Amino acid sequence: MLKKAGEKPIKKYEKIERKPPKGYDSANDFFESVFMDKDMIWMGQNTNHLVGDVIADAMADCALEKEYCKYPPPEGFSKLKSLILEDLGFENMEVFLTAGATESLFLCMNALLNPEDNVITCDPGYLIIGTFADRFADEVKYIPIYNKECNYKMTPSLVRDYIDDNTKLIVLIDPLNPLGVCYTEDEIKEFAQIAIENDIYLLHDVTYKDFAHEHFLAANYAPDNTLTAYSFSKIFGMAGARIGGVISNKNIIDSIKNVVVNDLGVNIISQAGAIKGLQTKGEWINEVREISFHNQKLIKEAVDKIDGIFLPVYPSDANMMVIDVSQAGINPKDLSEYLIERKLFTREGEYTSKLFGDKYLRISFSIPTNEIEVFCKELPKAIEALRKN
Ligand SMILES: Cc1ncc(COP(=O)(O)O)c(C=O)c1O
Repeated sequence: MLKKAGEKPIKKYEKIERKPPKGYDSANDFFESVFMDKDMIWMGQNTNHLVGDVIADAMADCALEKEYCKYPPPEGFSKLKSLILEDLGFENMEVFLTAGATESLFLCMNALLNPEDNVITCDPGYLIIGTFADRFADEVKYIPIYNKECNYKMTPSLVRDYIDDNTKLIVLIDPLNPLGVCYTEDEIKEFAQIAIENDIYLLHDVTYKDFAHEHFLAANYAPDNTLTAYSFSKIFGMAGARIGGVISNKNIIDSIKNVVVNDLGVNIISQAGAIKGLQTKGEWINEVREISFHNQKLIKEAVDKIDGIFLPVYPSDANMMVIDVSQAGINPKDLSEYLIERKLFTREGEYTSKLFGDKYLRISFSIPTNEIEVFCKELPKAIEALRKN
């Protein structure tokens, strides 16, 4: 029934209200002011600031040629799609391009889930995935993994404990935002086996795969059950260009195409950058990885010198890690607010956990080493200023 003007609007879904940071009316105002501050050290979004100009130049050329006057092919340039498949080493799979992996994750949930289904994922994790799943399924089961016993990971045996007849989907974020844990080949094989045995799906979010020491793809072991979410935001350093995709078999990609919103295609300038990024990846990836490994080592050394704080996971297989500050009696929100005053943008735990958000600060480290050194200098001062224990 149509509502008359002035009546309360119908809300189909509950909006997740995030409290804006101190001094801001909304989270957007906060992000905008941080974004505009050119002196801010960017450790709060797992972005990568280490790739040289090659992708930027390709995007600039595309813009100068005014390619953006035309619409792109609605399902993306075939060159880009075949480069993505090559990057993953997949054959007989299809790519569906989206404005970032986030859109892919939403489309996967929409295409796969029915109201009686449940979804298994973990906490801590990338919470928007659960939020999307909640819109289409009956329940999202979050496995609590912030403990040593499970190595801060969603293990196959934990997943077996949580599966029931209504489970339709297991979400593997690998490497995991925020902890930086990553699955071994045996674990990936076992997750694949679980999906096949139970005739359910695996959504393998490999957004951070290229920062891992070693990484394995579930689609190689359960090709008909796996959807691989792929992003250009992290290793390619293209977060603001908003491009990513989902890769799966033809059948699954066809069902995703049925729920598409953006059917006029993905930003043409971003596609030009993504093509160049994939074509040149071999030339710059080792340097990005080495700087990132070195940076996390510097952070580890700094953390180890401070009583009452620790790194639950080290080394990280992503470009971010978690610093546990709970034993020092520090509220991570106070810590991130303290650091932002010193031009260090980090994220308090509640951004990636409903259960353990009061325990940790998340920092990303794919930024120039001199900026990491600033963080390492400020961290002890921050902890001493805020410590209660
Ligand atoms: C696990 C995970 N997946 C996807 C994304 C978002 O990717 P994109 O920028 O391609 O939408 C993030 C961003 O932080 C993430 O942590």
